[in-house]
Amino acid sequence: MNNSLQPLCGSTFLVRVFGCQMNFHDGERVRGMLDAAGAIEVETIEEADIVVFLTCCVREAADTRLYGQVATISTTPTREGVDHRIIAIGGCIGQRDGEELFKKLPHVDIVFGTHTLYRLPDMLLSAKEGIRHQAALLESDIDGCTASDLPSHRDDSFHAWVPITYGCNNFCTYCIVPYVRGRERSRTKESVLEEIRNLASEGAVKEVTLLGQNVNSYGRDLYGEPQFAKLLAQVGECGIPRIRFATSHPKDLSDETIEVMATTPAIMPALHLPAQSGSSRILKMMNRTYNREQYLTLVNKVKNAIPNIALSTDIIVGFPGETEEDFLDTLSLVQQVGYSQVFTFIYSKREGTPAARIVDTTPREVIQDRFDRLVEVVQTGALAENQRDIDSTVPVLFEGFSKRDATMLVGRSPRNQTVHVPLPSDKSVDDFRGQIIDVHLEEAKTWYLKGSFIHG
Ligand code: 5AD
Ligand code: SF4
Repeated sequence: MNNSLQPLCGSTFLVRVFGCQMNFHDGERVRGMLDAAGAIEVETIEEADIVVFLTCCVREAADTRLYGQVATISTTPTREGVDHRIIAIGGCIGQRDGEELFKKLPHVDIVFGTHTLYRLPDMLLSAKEGIRHQAALLESDIDGCTASDLPSHRDDSFHAWVPITYGCNNFCTYCIVPYVRGRERSRTKESVLEEIRNLASEGAVKEVTLLGQNVNSYGRDLYGEPQFAKLLAQVGECGIPRIRFATSHPKDLSDETIEVMATTPAIMPALHLPAQSGSSRILKMMNRTYNREQYLTLVNKVKNAIPNIALSTDIIVGFPGETEEDFLDTLSLVQQVGYSQVFTFIYSKREGTPAARIVDTTPREVIQDRFDRLVEVVQTGALAENQRDIDSTVPVLFEGFSKRDATMLVGRSPRNQTVHVPLPSDKSVDDFRGQIIDVHLEEAKTWYLKGSFIHG
């Protein structure tokens, strides 16, 4: 039955998310809006009348993947009684390409950008009525209305993403994000705190991750100076057991923030601090505005204040003009810091960014070889960081079971490590999902730890 309150009643949908955590957050809002419009979420393309993509254009691989998936979807038969499957593309590729996408991907019905998520239900309704090629794009949010104002359907009842800033002002020379996500806009403290207090009152939410391209500069646009430390301290008092945040630009990580992390029990001892490179020469070319020494000084400050901190980072290999010497600086930085996790990327040229104009003659094999050498160092470091926790007992937030082994529970330690614990034979995974339970850590692997329950 179709009615005006639930205009998509009878339709089925699937949301595919690529890229960063902000897209995962936006994906939850898309699901929230489509639930509210009466559509039913399904798990396969065959069953879906509507497929919504939240796309990423940070690297070329994400573009290529989208094209491949749209091609597959457009040749997959629809459900009986449905003549046309609606394809909607949003997120960063939507924002970057706009209506041009209809030329490249004629099967796509709807394009929306990073500021027009809220338009999706209406456009889907029009598409159901036969209107093809609708585009909703804006250069910025209308009246401060952001995705946080939309209904949400969270992936996990125990975890919530809470954006505190949108966009980025940093213009690292390789990065497309400021062009597709716009200038940095902070939500008000009141709005963030109200959302988190509401989540706390639900009871089920055990972990909140504050999101922003550079959370450390939170509030600069609204209050004249960054207010992240103050916000974090207040969030830590809201009654949510675990608070995490990402991402921290090293140039803006203040002493006050480090102090709040060190003294607020709810703030987990994990910090994602993208270095991007260990070479001061390359960092300058990247416009990161810190050098190797400043980064290492900051890391020492954090380690001194929070001795059990788990550090993670992003590294780009093959930035135009990177020499072997620059790369060795990156390798040694990674070894020196001792990261729990390193997200490694091969530089991907993004049209429109300043780095795209730098001519580079480094052969692809040389860059691949550097990448492989980096991955080896990263793996050794990750294993060492996990080994350091053997024989300790830590509270683990359980998420579900292992994809490879349904008798193995999977959860996360405060230091954001994946922890595996055998499922007790008299229990089901639902007894554990969303619970925080003490686990004794017994065996370290590169990407996870194995442990057992200390009580019964
Ligand atoms: N090529 C490769 N990696 C990139 N990143 C951003 N832009 C590019 C690019 N053009 C990486 C950075 C950033 C992470 C989210 O993606 O390391 O921190
Ligand atoms: Fe991109 Fe730099 Fe902004 Fe991060 S801080 S989103 S890498 S421009």
